[in-house]
Amino acid sequence: MKQPENKWQHWTLRREADGLAWLEIDKANSTTNSLSAAVMEELGCVLDTLDARPPAALVIASAKAAGFIAGADIDEFSRMDSAADARVMVARGWTLFERLADVSYPTLALIRGHCLGGGLELALACRYRIVVDEPGTKLALPEVMLGIVPGWGGMKRLPDRIGPALALDLMLTGKAVDAKKAKRIGLADDCVPPRVMENAARMRVRSGSANPPLPWMARLMNGPLQAKVADKARKQVAGRARREHYPAPYAIIDMWARFEGNALAVPAGDPAALETIFASPTTRNLLRVYHLQERLKGFGKGADFVPRHVHVIGAGVMGGDIAAVCAQRGLTVTLQDQTVERIAPAIARAAKLFERRFKGDRRLVRFALDRLIPDPQGHGAVRADVIIEAIFENLDAKRALFADLERRARPDAILASNTSSLKLEDIATCLSDPGRLLGIHFFNPVAMMPLVEVVAGEQSDVLALQRAAAFVRKLDKLPLPVKSAPGFLVNAVLGPYMLEALRCVEEGIAPEVVDAALVDFGMPMGPVELVDTVGLDIAVAAGKALAGAGAAPPQKLLALVSAGKLGKKTGEGYYRWKDDKPVRATAGAVPAGLADRILAPLLSATRRCVADGVVADADLADAGVIFGTGFAPWSGGPMNYLQRGANAPLGVDSVLAERNPPLIQQDPI
Ligand code: NAI
Repeated sequence: MKQPENKWQHWTLRREADGLAWLEIDKANSTTNSLSAAVMEELGCVLDTLDARPPAALVIASAKAAGFIAGADIDEFSRMDSAADARVMVARGWTLFERLADVSYPTLALIRGHCLGGGLELALACRYRIVVDEPGTKLALPEVMLGIVPGWGGMKRLPDRIGPALALDLMLTGKAVDAKKAKRIGLADDCVPPRVMENAARMRVRSGSANPPLPWMARLMNGPLQAKVADKARKQVAGRARREHYPAPYAIIDMWARFEGNALAVPAGDPAALETIFASPTTRNLLRVYHLQERLKGFGKGADFVPRHVHVIGAGVMGGDIAAVCAQRGLTVTLQDQTVERIAPAIARAAKLFERRFKGDRRLVRFALDRLIPDPQGHGAVRADVIIEAIFENLDAKRALFADLERRARPDAILASNTSSLKLEDIATCLSDPGRLLGIHFFNPVAMMPLVEVVAGEQSDVLALQRAAAFVRKLDKLPLPVKSAPGFLVNAVLGPYMLEALRCVEEGIAPEVVDAALVDFGMPMGPVELVDTVGLDIAVAAGKALAGAGAAPPQKLLALVSAGKLGKKTGEGYYRWKDDKPVRATAGAVPAGLADRILAPLLSATRRCVADGVVADADLADAGVIFGTGFAPWSGGPMNYLQRGANAPLGVDSVLAERNPPLIQQDPI
């Protein structure tokens, strides 16, 4: 039996009769464990206590159901205002974890749930790690996503543990590994089910077994081949991100290759120095993106709503995928379309999604498929908590459908349309209570896109909107409240941007050059490739809906559509497509100011959406455009980019000043 021995505010140490000690972290007044200055200081006191009377072995675990440790305290980090503060913070973690790594007794981290950033660095400083095989167990060093580096020993210990190739991949992308993979790559010593975890920890920590050596190739890469590996990694990073936009990944490579993973050893003038990283606007902007994401996650939190059953009408591109994502997330889904034959392809696509998401776990795939019920007669509408309409973009068809749904649905069910271009107010006239209708606007491809616009029509009920946001959170997506207006936020800013890109092509600039300019700026995909991916026919229709008769579509776009060249889906559009990839000629030199020119309409449209109240404030506009379009995260979002013109490498404000008047007059959004 474990006897309580020492209790601090955030840590509890218990010793067993045979000398094994258990150290539990339970950060006070918080649902998750994060390594704040106070938590770290107390860990120092715990180590003092253990030094005074060393245990036979030590197991570190979490007392919280939420997970192991989520990382450093980001709020503390966000409040820092000097590079000297950053150095102090890095030194605190580095020194403490060096000390933990050097203790005389064996140590083990028992990891259940998330183990991120500083949490994984703590675990790496232990001699052993055991991971609990549950869906929530995720291990990652995601610092790079915040523009910072794993400075508490992660850059030193992860490559030693799993080899530099894998370690750099994890540190440079921030991606997480699950429990099984952690065991497979050697990050964890054992992967066990929850019921045996304590016994497994007890046995492993007292086993005396040595850590397995790295394979010889990984040892070479960590030694004589280190400079070559670093060069290759730099080249790979350069293909994805410029150093002036994202200094952190370059710094990680340098710190690993030149400074043994010790950020403190880098002299202040070096491009990889903590001071350089801290001075970069990217770090502040990526932290801003993190906080924006947290803000979106907060929508719907107040609503006391636990959706269980969703009824989706229309099993096409959108409805089919919305239904699949709902089923994947544990909801019961009834999927209605005009015939069973129209539903079948959606079920086949869902099966593929489940295979990918559940990594071939047959049981989980089966359960998800069981939750997704074809319902050609639409019986599910009577029982559903949420009803989503995703049929053709036709006002009369939608009105007829909602009039019938209002009669049959439960009085408290959410009635939502996924429409991109019809006015909610026009659809709602068919209802006896028009306040019931709202928009839940997903983006294509549904499974990949993190943002969902929750659209308030003029009469939409406020409580229903909150519940809709809670439903979106249930899908683990980010709800963005928007006002009903043409294109809402995301399409309203993307439309003019894509149009300007196509105008450039019309003027004779190669699509490759246009795309290269914007990818270089940090967009995930060039605008011409985006038009090809969305479909040229859809782009023409969306352009008409957004711009009315005001802005004529480019001639080349119309010519391609009439020739049936609709982009990726037909194998040819602005590009020819092979194996789902555009075939590109080598891009020539990008003319100066091209990215500015194409971005200007996007920036001014965002500004206009804020001014018109389509979103409540500039921060939400930035959140929506980043998570809805992938707009270069290093910039902190379009409004932030406009405001901080001095930090912006491109002369965007002057371009805007030049182009704003004609754009605003031309574009009647
Ligand atoms: P789609 O043409 O792929 O699918 C529409 C489906 O609705 C078809 O399977 C059709 O049989 C079914 N349908 C039509 N009338 C019906 C009725 N009365 N009852 C039951 N089923 C009916 O269309 P898609 O692209 O999925 O679009 C659906 C909605 O989603 C539209 O309102 C569109 O504006 C919106 N949307 C589309 C996006 C896209 O990228 N395709 C993105 C975001 C929203």
